[in-house]
Amino acid sequence: MVSLKLAALAGALAVPLTAAVEISVSSEGGNATSGHQYGFLHEDINNSGDGGLYAELVRNRAFQVSETFPPTLEAWYPVNGAQLSLKNLSTPLSEALPTSMNVAAGNSTRYSNSTTKVGFFNDGYWGMDVKVQTYSGSFWVLGEYDGSFTASLQSNITGEVFGSVKVESQSQPDEWIEHTFELTPFKDAPSSNNTFVITFDSVGVSSGSLDFNVISLFPPTYKGRKNGMRIDIAEALEELHPTLFRIPGGNMLEGLANTSWWDWKNSIGPLKDRPGFSGVWEYQQTNGLGLMEYLQFAEDLGMELVVGVYDGLSLNGDVTPQDELQPFIDDALNEIEFISGSADSTWGSVRAELGHPEPFPLKYVEVGNEDWLAGAPESWTTFKAYRFPMFLEAINEAYPDIQVISSGSYYDGYDMPEPGAGDYHVYAEPDTLVSEFNKFDNITTLHLIGEMAAVHPNGGIGWDGLLMPFPWWGGAVGEAVSLIGYERNTDRIIGAAYAPIIRNMNRWQWSITMIQFAADPALTTRSTSWYVWELMAAHIMTDTLPATSDFDPLFYVAGKSDKTGGHIFKAAVYNSTDGADVPVKLAFEGVGPGTAAELTVLTGPENPYSVNDPFTGVNVVETTKSTVTSNEQGVFEFDLPNLSVAVLDTSSASNSTSRKVKSRWNRQVEYRW
Ligand SMILES: *[C@@H]1O[C@H](CO)[C@@H](O)[C@H](O)[C@H]1NC(C)=O
Ligand SMILES: *[C@@H]1O[C@H](CO)[C@@H](O)[C@H](O)[C@H]1NC(C)=O
Ligand SMILES: *[C@@H]1O[C@H](CO)[C@@H](O)[C@H](O)[C@H]1NC(C)=O
Ligand SMILES: *[C@@H]1O[C@H](CO)[C@@H](O)[C@H](O)[C@H]1NC(C)=O
Ligand SMILES: *[C@@H]1O[C@H](CO)[C@@H](O)[C@H](O)[C@H]1NC(C)=O
Ligand SMILES: *[C@@H]1O[C@H](CO)[C@@H](O)[C@H](O)[C@H]1NC(C)=O
Ligand SMILES: *[C@@H]1O[C@H](CO)[C@@H](O)[C@H](O)[C@H]1NC(C)=O
Ligand SMILES: *[C@@H]1O[C@H](CO)[C@@H](O)[C@H](O)[C@H]1NC(C)=O
Ligand SMILES: *[C@@H]1O[C@H](CO)[C@@H](O)[C@H](O)[C@H]1NC(C)=O
Ligand SMILES: *[C@@H]1O[C@H](CO)[C@@H](O)[C@H](O)[C@H]1NC(C)=O
Ligand SMILES: *[C@@H]1O[C@H](CO)[C@@H](O)[C@H](O)[C@H]1NC(C)=O
Ligand SMILES: *[C@@H]1O[C@H](CO)[C@@H](O)[C@H](O)[C@H]1NC(C)=O
Repeated sequence: MVSLKLAALAGALAVPLTAAVEISVSSEGGNATSGHQYGFLHEDINNSGDGGLYAELVRNRAFQVSETFPPTLEAWYPVNGAQLSLKNLSTPLSEALPTSMNVAAGNSTRYSNSTTKVGFFNDGYWGMDVKVQTYSGSFWVLGEYDGSFTASLQSNITGEVFGSVKVESQSQPDEWIEHTFELTPFKDAPSSNNTFVITFDSVGVSSGSLDFNVISLFPPTYKGRKNGMRIDIAEALEELHPTLFRIPGGNMLEGLANTSWWDWKNSIGPLKDRPGFSGVWEYQQTNGLGLMEYLQFAEDLGMELVVGVYDGLSLNGDVTPQDELQPFIDDALNEIEFISGSADSTWGSVRAELGHPEPFPLKYVEVGNEDWLAGAPESWTTFKAYRFPMFLEAINEAYPDIQVISSGSYYDGYDMPEPGAGDYHVYAEPDTLVSEFNKFDNITTLHLIGEMAAVHPNGGIGWDGLLMPFPWWGGAVGEAVSLIGYERNTDRIIGAAYAPIIRNMNRWQWSITMIQFAADPALTTRSTSWYVWELMAAHIMTDTLPATSDFDPLFYVAGKSDKTGGHIFKAAVYNSTDGADVPVKLAFEGVGPGTAAELTVLTGPENPYSVNDPFTGVNVVETTKSTVTSNEQGVFEFDLPNLSVAVLDTSSASNSTSRKVKSRWNRQVEYRW
């Protein structure tokens, strides 16, 4: 549909002044969007949950045991010659936690040192951030002790004490007693090389030793949630404006074998009742960041959930036969009821008891994870033959409004039975992401892009080849092109999730993550991709609108938001002719002359392989915001540079003429000219 004004515009543009890309956007004929197109997958990959998003500072706090990992004293050290040992007591703290730590006054203390104070310290997830703020701690003790405990935060380098508190003993000889305390350091530590220390006076211990378990210390958490998230990481995620949250993985959902998948029931309730999990990333996981914590986080950030349910496939290729599948289907239905059932339903009441009587909204349930991969081809054959159809039917019978998603896509060779949706994953080089701009143009089934990222440089390094060390600018532009392609097809694309989302710089397996961090919050880094996804997600359309013109090197999507009343244009330039700027002439039907719009343009440095490196703290992405006013024909005119990403939005016109927004990691400095 071309308006008179646009016809006039076409006439005006007949004079070939520049090789501008002319784009006319109709006011009707588009599609409603899902409204939540941008998000991420989180799973506990190499301490991005424990020691990452999950704020617990104490590592190995409960000496957990699993099939794959025996209990250890990792991260624990004696104080004043104490003897630390693991014990499987006849009176364990709980069934879930059979092993505890026994602390005995050692020889040096008894015989060769005047102090009778003994104890232990923990050096955290490679250090602990210590600031003047209130930490909440707790520990369970078994054994008679007449005296008090001292809990403190200290330097692991000099022993300097930054804060300390006395906790009166309530210990009993044959009953586990929880002790809780608050600890506020009186000064900030100069680095994150710190430890958490607990000592007691061995003179007051009649039996010579005490047993400890679930020794926990939390800094203030995001939104003050108990057992909650680390603030700086949660804020870096929140500032992305995510609207889609895929949990709990990824490979983690599947588990190493069908005796140890991520069982949601083990991840709820008091910490003492969470056994931990034989993590799939080579370490024992605590189950501290459990289903309730994930749900609460989704609610806090306003994210739509995509909840993965275990479907009888594990990473070693274990597949559940058809006649044994029902218990897993029942378990998935119970999980859905736990999340979204009313407070008087069987599992909804458990959620209510845990402090959330209101059901969490749940629209998307994904069956399994990458069922075409582990154990292929048998796993994939059984998925298509009976596992997906059985889950789909059972879930939709009980919950007709839930959109069930298959863990594989049309492109993995699966034409999903109705009304199932697919999940497409892509980790690729930027050229591939650009070539997939129109991949979904003709697809007829609904799809989620459940995992995506640019990971390899152009030039054909295969799956097993080197990843880039960090997300890089050229890769981020490649992602933008694919994201724009998804948005153009948003009537059939639920949304896209970046994966994996965060990386612990002390222990990682996969270098391409949106945000990097370590114990020291100064290292929390927003990657080049972060800036692209943030910009895209900051301007959510409610409808796409048809627009003229071809693509390449300017890839774009146009639409509007009924919520803001804005007309929106999103674009990326990838490899323009001779690297020149691309002039754009953009007209929206129904948007008159003299209309102001905010144009945000992201550009990178000359070297497209530049990265945001946590150790330099330099942000290579430049953000330029300017106000563009439509001309007498109602046309917005502007130039977009080679390798740039841009959004024009008429609802967020600013009053300034042009400004660059420079940012470092934790601070945003704005300057205008
Ligand atoms: C306690 O039990 C776990 C497994 O149940 C075992 O791996 C561990 O070695 C036992 N520890 C001790 C000290 O007996
Ligand atoms: C003796 O106690 C002091 C003071 O607590 C401590 O610094 C020192 O390390 C202890 N010596 C031994 C051998 O444990
Ligand atoms: C403690 O000292 C006694 C006496 O010297 C010795 O027999 C024992 O082996 C020592 N124990 C440890 C754990 O060092
Ligand atoms: C803390 O100090 C101990 C030695 O007392 C050392 O083994 C450990 O690696 C240090 N931890 C960190 C995180 O530097
Ligand atoms: C302190 O920790 C940092 C990493 O957070 C590490 O680079 C440094 O080597 C540590 N210093 C000491 C003395 O352990
Ligand atoms: C676990 O996997 C094996 C195949 O490796 C299968 O025989 C068994 O039935 C599976 N058990 C369950 C409960 O799914
Ligand atoms: C989609 O269909 C159109 C029209 O048939 C065709 O020109 C185009 O190549 C198809 N695109 C893809 C990605 O299959
Ligand atoms: C991930 O963590 C495990 C457990 O510590 C470790 O063995 C593995 O090497 C880590 N991977 C990398 C690449 O650091
Ligand atoms: C709207 O959806 C239809 C059917 O999926 C598609 O052919 C059309 O291109 C879409 N329009 C826009 C503007 O996205
Ligand atoms: C710009 O585009 C050209 C392709 O025409 C490409 O080869 C070049 O690497 C790009 N350079 C930059 C810095 O954007
Ligand atoms: C874009 O330019 C880059 C850098 O010159 C090159 O690696 C890449 O292959 C080009 N891609 C396309 C699709 O032209
Ligand atoms: C523009 O400036 C006016 C007056 O200062 C202010 O009320 C308005 O909110 C500003 N608009 C934007 C989009 O910043």
